[in-house]
Amino acid sequence: MSYQAILPAAGQGKRMGAGKNKLLLEIGNVPVFIHTLRVFENDPECTGVFLAINPQDEEEMRVLLKKHQITKVAAMVEGGKERQHSVYNAAKAASGVEVVLVHDAARPFITRDLLQPLEKAAREKGAAVLAVPLKDTVKKADGNLITETLERSCLWAVQTPQAFRVSSLLEAHRKAEEDSFLGTDDASLVERLGKEVVIVEGSYDNIKLTTPEDIYFAEAIIKKRSN
Ligand code: CTP
Ligand code: MG
Repeated sequence: MSYQAILPAAGQGKRMGAGKNKLLLEIGNVPVFIHTLRVFENDPECTGVFLAINPQDEEEMRVLLKKHQITKVAAMVEGGKERQHSVYNAAKAASGVEVVLVHDAARPFITRDLLQPLEKAAREKGAAVLAVPLKDTVKKADGNLITETLERSCLWAVQTPQAFRVSSLLEAHRKAEEDSFLGTDDASLVERLGKEVVIVEGSYDNIKLTTPEDIYFAEAIIKKRSN
């Protein structure tokens, strides 16, 4: 079934420390955000992409979209101070579909086979996220004193895309804004309204490029895929 994609791309990439938006860095000779967009470009079910961007990146991004023949960007909207604001700005632009997928432009290794089950789960349940079982043991601490070891078998590392019925996503963002609530993902905004969010198992390859060492992992994934 068809959906639209919302791609927050308006960050500064501070932790990457590249001196510019990390999404403009190249891996395998292609900019990060173009890798991400390519997946949606190639998915016939995706009818449009709404990109939240920094005004200072707009020109460079437009040139690259043209160069790499990305045609599905329906609108580029100005991002906000936090990721959540960027998503909300872009979500308001989406229209005419029941389901949207929100995906960090900084996760270029998402694969098409994961999009369809995620979209289906959101259509049926209202909201769904990709996640992978945690590999590390997670403990809570007060300063450096451990206070609790969490039961790993019920812990998940949550990724994007996160898929929503558009009406749910907009309501959740509207309410978060009203309450000045800032979440670290979009699903948490829906969860706090008491609505169900389901997990669809994702892939460990679907990393978010955050710090400089992630570029090494990214190059390795590109190499593995080109073999
Ligand atoms: N993002 C956004 N608007 C913001 C902040 C982030 O659209 N105000 C986007 C980023 O471009 C990225 C995604 O949200 O695609 C995930 O954010 P993150 O990995 O934190 O990227 P940055 O905010 O750019 O990095 P940093 O936090 O290190 O500055
Ligand atoms: Mg950030």
